[in-house]
Amino acid sequence: MSAGAAAMAPAPVIAIDGPTASGKGTVALEVARALGWHMLDSGALYRLLAWQALGQGVALDDASALGRLAEVLPLSYTDHGLMLAGRPVGDEIRQEAVGVAASRIAALGPVRQGLLAMQRAARRPPGLVADGRDMGTVVFPDAPLKIFLTASAASRAERRYKQLIEKGISASLPGLLQDLLERDARDTHRALSPLQAAEGAVAIDSTQLDISQTVERVLQAWRRQGG
Ligand code: DC
Repeated sequence: MSAGAAAMAPAPVIAIDGPTASGKGTVALEVARALGWHMLDSGALYRLLAWQALGQGVALDDASALGRLAEVLPLSYTDHGLMLAGRPVGDEIRQEAVGVAASRIAALGPVRQGLLAMQRAARRPPGLVADGRDMGTVVFPDAPLKIFLTASAASRAERRYKQLIEKGISASLPGLLQDLLERDARDTHRALSPLQAAEGAVAIDSTQLDISQTVERVLQAWRRQGG
């Protein structure tokens, strides 16, 4: 590639997609740290929108109102992470009820469309690690590396349970497993941008792997690509 072409090339993206609580977020963060890249937690945008909708009493099936809300969300990315109206976004969006609401509104076209530009704007040099459900299929279809990260439902429910308890958020393991199975079904079977492995994605099953082993698998895949 000539120097001019290299200067024009968009920043590389590692897209990490997978079901809820598969460890995508933590893995994406660690991979971004290891490479010195930016990170996009796309689920946080859906959660933020759901949280705003719940707070403002917007019905979770009102596609056009939610689409409008998505377009005017005063969101920005800074060195301190995601900000809403200049304030850091905290654990309020991590509650299970917000995740469930996010999964519901994520099935609506105007919502997905309204959040698209914001997700693509996160692509900046030297590179981006993006995690979600449709990073490799829809948002960054030209990503040079796509990962599909899965783990058994039981191990994902256990991980989510530990995360919530550590954050001081109360939870029940059977309830979480039930929510997670329903969320998987909704995210996988929706008509728009369903959760599915992108063509050419590297599949990693993390049921028997810890975070550092999973991160290493992703970095190995990146090195194999010549990254
Ligand atoms: O990754 P998460 O659990 O924080 O995401 C919350 C919900 O947002 C998830 O159930 C589906 C939706 N989502 C989506 O549809 N597309 C994405 N790229 C990310 C999240």
